[in-house]
Amino acid sequence: MKIGLLTGGGDCAGLNAVIRAAVKRAEEYGWEAVGIRYGWKGLLELDYIDLSFKNISNIHKWGGTILKTTRTNPFNYPEGPEKVMNNVEKLGLGGLIAIGGDDTLGAAARFYKMGLKVVGVPKTMDNDLSVTDYTFGFDSAVNEAMYALDNLLQTGESHDRVMIAEVMGRNAGWVAAYAGIAAGANLTLVPEEPFDIEDIAYFIKKRRLKGDKAALIVVSEGAILKNVSKTFTRDGKVDDFGHVKLGGVGQFLAEELEKRIGGEIRITSLGHTIRGGQPTAFDRVLSSRFGLAAVDLIKEEKFGMMVALKGTQIVSVSIDESTSKTKTLDPAILSALKELFY
Ligand code: F6P
Repeated sequence: MKIGLLTGGGDCAGLNAVIRAAVKRAEEYGWEAVGIRYGWKGLLELDYIDLSFKNISNIHKWGGTILKTTRTNPFNYPEGPEKVMNNVEKLGLGGLIAIGGDDTLGAAARFYKMGLKVVGVPKTMDNDLSVTDYTFGFDSAVNEAMYALDNLLQTGESHDRVMIAEVMGRNAGWVAAYAGIAAGANLTLVPEEPFDIEDIAYFIKKRRLKGDKAALIVVSEGAILKNVSKTFTRDGKVDDFGHVKLGGVGQFLAEELEKRIGGEIRITSLGHTIRGGQPTAFDRVLSSRFGLAAVDLIKEEKFGMMVALKGTQIVSVSIDESTSKTKTLDPAILSALKELFY
């Protein structure tokens, strides 16, 4: 038998470890594996490569994806779904592993209903998929962000500056909260708790009165202002799945704070720097276990299902379920985060 693998949506650390482990297990079953390039786009255009474990045995150490990725939604293209189904048949795939976030998996769920033998693997640095305790890519992104925040605070303290760092994470504050706690940020703003600019200005002024001139503020790209409920966006453009590009809240915060408290304020957007980089040990292990388990789902013909982490166990859940709800920040983490503001 032959199976296919694709990676869709934004890349993250750990994708290569999934591919490596899945190919290893497929070969154990005596199966061949092909890698579809550029996510669903590769199935519209029949763009693929043959995969053998011998050639990819070391890729788990590297971030990004050797299969490349796009945010292509095949349902947006004329006869896109039919092309995908035909190309799967042309390739002779007995199973397809779709590795992605809610968009890639959402498309997988629709294809499953059309008869595609597909299973899913959840990935996103945002950690916002509801059916799994963690997605891989998250821990690596948090670690990258933490190192960057440590550096920002060090230079900020030398100059007595307020340092603002904007981090990715879409409409969930997981990355900001974990990185903020880990780096010991003075204040971390997340989408789950809209912020008031006057409160923040008061907080910084109070610190200054106590003699603490420098401060580190972490702000999630999806953070919103109290009573405004508007996210900050880069431009009006949307991707194939209807998402706007978030960004700009850090700059807004810097400008508004400057008006209220003066002093030197610097803003850094960590942007994509935290999405690239080598995966942490946690992400390498989780991704490898997901890769093995995804091939087992195909073996057991559990199509329409995806792997997920529950505690320390890898379980299977329906792909449909995975895409139905965004997992926002756990209230227990939010409360720890706020306890640690200083
Ligand atoms: O994939 C998730 C994510 O990293 C979000 O945190 C961020 O908003 C978005 O992708 C950025 O997307 P792009 O790489 O397309 O600019």
